[in-house]
Amino acid sequence: MLLAQAKIADSGVVPGVPHWQSAPQITRFQEPFYGRNHAAQEQPGEKGQGLAGGQGSQWHRYNPDTSENPSVDTYTVDLDSCGPMVLDALIKIKNEIDPTLAFRRSCREGVCGSCAMNIAGGNTLACTKAINDCSGAISVYPLPHMPVVKDLVPDLTNFYAQYASIQPFLKTKTAEPEKEWQQSPQDRAKLDGLYECILCACCSTACPSYWWNSERYLGPAALLQSYRWLIDSRDEETGERLDDLEDPFRLYRCHTIMNCANTCPKGLNPAAAIGEIKQMMVKRKA
Ligand code: SF4
Ligand code: SF4
Ligand code: FES
Repeated sequence: MLLAQAKIADSGVVPGVPHWQSAPQITRFQEPFYGRNHAAQEQPGEKGQGLAGGQGSQWHRYNPDTSENPSVDTYTVDLDSCGPMVLDALIKIKNEIDPTLAFRRSCREGVCGSCAMNIAGGNTLACTKAINDCSGAISVYPLPHMPVVKDLVPDLTNFYAQYASIQPFLKTKTAEPEKEWQQSPQDRAKLDGLYECILCACCSTACPSYWWNSERYLGPAALLQSYRWLIDSRDEETGERLDDLEDPFRLYRCHTIMNCANTCPKGLNPAAAIGEIKQMMVKRKA
């Protein structure tokens, strides 16, 4: 019988302490940060199915309604009665072992972006990350360097506000056409590699520049979306959009570290999009 163990580890977020002061280091994801490690309450043969030693996995726990520090819980899951993805294990744990475990999910198809979390040291989607692709203990943490609402649920308020700030919709000046705004197949093809972004925030929360300047730097996700509208042949406010990005922090805090492209679960390359925006800035000044 193939068994996997799950451990939910500490986010490093302490109530009342700014998250940038308590944020965990990626290299410490295997460790509980405050010396607390809750073993699974279930024993083999009890409510959980086939709970026993095996491949370990660790899951982050944090409840803002208590004064408790964040902690790590460890669960063991029987893979013979579990789906193949990490999200399947999360749902199984919630249904059969610990209903208090909090996480987001919706589509379970890699489309909605809501199940983004840090799994086995990398930001990805729980619904498309196979348990078999994780070796040894599977550590599961919320997306790094974000305030935590509870357990594996990050607060994405700032992330969404930054997305809204790039005005992600068609802006035109000429009169509305009678039917639709038309676009040639060639111009439409320029949006490939951009429109597929599901705003999961894996890239921005893997970006060191975003970790340290998330209040002022837009981050790779918002900038990839910004470029998507900058090169849309139908949009007529390219200049204004570039004006809005002409700022030492909003755009230019990207240092081409490439964590964003390495972690994107949709295989997109925000760093390349950011490079294109910088080139647009240079060209319009030439
Ligand atoms: S670029 Fe990729 S990692 Fe970043 S938000 Fe979009 S889908 Fe997620
Ligand atoms: S390439 Fe830029 S946006 Fe991507 S991780 Fe590096 S600094 Fe962040
Ligand atoms: S549940 Fe929608 S992307 Fe994972």
